[in-house]
Amino acid sequence: MIKLIHGKFELTPAINIGKIDLIVCDPPDNIGLKYEGFKDRQKPLEYEMNLRLWLGMMADLTKGPIFFTFNEKWTRAVENAIEAVGIPLIQRLQWYYTFGQDQTKCGKYALCYRPIYWLNSKYVQPSKVKIPSARQIKYNDKRAAKGGKMPPNVWEFPRICGSFHERRKHCPTQLPEALVERIVKGHCHPKGRVLDPFVGSGTTAIVCQRLGLDCVGIDVSEPCIKKTAEILGVSFE
Ligand SMILES: C[S@@+](CC[C@H](N)C(=O)[O-])C[C@H]1O[C@@H](n2cnc3c(N)ncnc32)[C@H](O)[C@@H]1O
Repeated sequence: MIKLIHGKFELTPAINIGKIDLIVCDPPDNIGLKYEGFKDRQKPLEYEMNLRLWLGMMADLTKGPIFFTFNEKWTRAVENAIEAVGIPLIQRLQWYYTFGQDQTKCGKYALCYRPIYWLNSKYVQPSKVKIPSARQIKYNDKRAAKGGKMPPNVWEFPRICGSFHERRKHCPTQLPEALVERIVKGHCHPKGRVLDPFVGSGTTAIVCQRLGLDCVGIDVSEPCIKKTAEILGVSFE
């Protein structure tokens, strides 16, 4: 079942969210992106306080893994918040994306990665995320482990550009379904329940719906959650 809630994550009572086994969290970037029904520009201190609040709430909601992705500009603030809240940091991952944003005009290198922090619980089902090794597919080496190997800590998936078939356009940032699918398949047990506290265009809920998993999605923007609900064929509360 997919449950969508309109409102601020920090104001949503835990009882409305229920039992959660995995959290996929992609909070606002706080760099002034244009969202409908939401202003992506908080003062740094306010944003840092929110990071702590959100992380603390997530740790209270689940004993399961939390995958937290954010704009790399806030790396120090996120690390400070993780330490202040006391959530175990299992591993720092990076999403490396092709079709990165060009920065030639400001004389900087193109933007092409986003941090993903694996927090809270080490739960993983390796068989669900393993990929074929070079030994297997390139060298046909008999010593290669049959089930493949764990992917590297840099995950490569293309960024979802405007012209992509997958692009839903009602939220300026959108995670690739393949990336979220790796997290959900690998870190949620088959009857688990997933939370995305900043569901945006609905990527996590779409992936869960396809995999037959329950999911709760929250978003403060009414126009955004309305369109996401239409796409998923569900209502929102
Ligand atoms: C980075 S986007 C999420 C994109 C999403 N991962 C996707 O693939 O479409 C962040 C979302 O958080 C929402 N948002 C901002 N502040 C919020 C809050 N306090 N509580 C809930 N949602 C919030 C915004 O409206 C926006 O849709």
